[in-house]
Amino acid sequence: MGALGINFSYVISAGLFIFGLKMLSSPATARKGNLLSALGMLIAIVATLLATGLDYRWILLGIVIGTAIGLFAAYKVEMTSMPEMVALFNGFGGISSLLLAWSEYHQQGEISSFLAGVTFLSAFIGGVTFTGSMVAFGKLSGKVPQKAVVFSGQHLINGAILLSALIAAALFCVFPGSWLGYVFFIIIVLVALGFGVTSTIPIGGADMPVVISLLNSYSGLAACAAGFVISNNILIVAGALVGASGIILTNIMCKAMNRSLANVLFSGFGTKTASSGAEDGPQGEVRPATAEDVYYILEAADSVAIVPGYGLAVAQAQHVVRELGDLLEANDTEVMYAIHPVAGRMPGHMNVLLAEANVPYDQLVEMDDINPRMDSVDVCVVIGANDVVNPAAAEDENSPIYGMPIIETFRAKTVIVLKRSLNPGFAGIQNALFFRENTRMYFGDAKVAIQALIAEFKEAK
Ligand code: TAP
Repeated sequence: MGALGINFSYVISAGLFIFGLKMLSSPATARKGNLLSALGMLIAIVATLLATGLDYRWILLGIVIGTAIGLFAAYKVEMTSMPEMVALFNGFGGISSLLLAWSEYHQQGEISSFLAGVTFLSAFIGGVTFTGSMVAFGKLSGKVPQKAVVFSGQHLINGAILLSALIAAALFCVFPGSWLGYVFFIIIVLVALGFGVTSTIPIGGADMPVVISLLNSYSGLAACAAGFVISNNILIVAGALVGASGIILTNIMCKAMNRSLANVLFSGFGTKTASSGAEDGPQGEVRPATAEDVYYILEAADSVAIVPGYGLAVAQAQHVVRELGDLLEANDTEVMYAIHPVAGRMPGHMNVLLAEANVPYDQLVEMDDINPRMDSVDVCVVIGANDVVNPAAAEDENSPIYGMPIIETFRAKTVIVLKRSLNPGFAGIQNALFFRENTRMYFGDAKVAIQALIAEFKEAK
């Protein structure tokens, strides 16, 4: 295929990427958006492969091995392990950009300063993305300790590493084609791989989803730079789109947690264990409820807002929650699922789980839409959520989560909180909601406890 045909295909691919990304912003269109983007990538790959002068043997081998690994991983991965898989994929994207820049360095005869600059960016960002993503994967999967590794002088050391990379980059751009330039290039690669580790270890395991989104953005930037290295337009466009969307998502997550990116990256937040902190903060009388009590409350309700959180994912309770929702609807109760943007541990975590259980999209209500009508909701059923419903975020100026937007369940007429204990959630702080007059605590594993409720509904039929 000629250059015109290839570039025309790239324009179509770029259009499909952009429309696909746009469609990812709503659960109703997300699946189609994903397919559209995948089609765009297929067109880009086929067009690229039709360029003349390629040795197909290695490419074919890569396609076969890569497809096999990708298919196996996609089928095998648990929904709760999705962030780990995304971390691995980001890491592979990063190392590809690094290797591509490295091999191109050897292919190019004359190396201009511009080419040296983009080669540095591709190799450096790619290297940081690779090792950073491996640490993120290790922390999320429990293969390395989740705790933030923090020590004094750490920021200084990281700053010095970054500075050394910039100096090596400047020298590389001055002598790109000589053996000295190659030495600087190798130094850049080594520093990048080291910096990926040292910049990720100070971040606690629970903050990893934000870091993964950031690393995703890095992998896009590295790919974009790699696109300049090999003068491939679609790689430049796709890399820029990934880079931009990754940073937008990172920003959305930070905002929803009311934290700055610097706080996520440097504060070692979220390193408390689940049991610590329960004894601090508000205490008071808890009003426990049995399955039967909860059944009577729900049976009499005209409107019920279900608020899912991380515990729902842990218990894999999405299917029984849907069943409970159906029973409530059959009882003429209005059912809503109120979704907080950072409920769970990855972006869209609750949407993905509820979609898996085929919860109708029109029953999903965003935080900003449910809060204004919260006073008229009869019952809020909080299932495995904690921080995202903690009134301290709205009321206690001294709370570490003060200012974080929450689903204001405490304003509903009755609140049922379903969790196993009074233990805090990710932020490690106690929740005053548990002790409110209108709150009933329904203790248990989310799946088992909802099954007990379903049994009550069925028995009463
Ligand atoms: P959390 O505040 O982490 O609370 C989850 C609760 O689930 C825990 O208190 C736990 O209490 C309960 N739980 C665990 N296993 C359970 C089970 N099997 N059955 C019933 N309950 C169970 O969750 P959240 O309200 O969803 O808030 C998310 C937090 O993660 C926020 O602080 C957010 O800032 C943070 N975060 C989110 C993201 C994204 S992108 N979503 C990224 C980084 C950080 P028990 O142990 O008592 O059962």
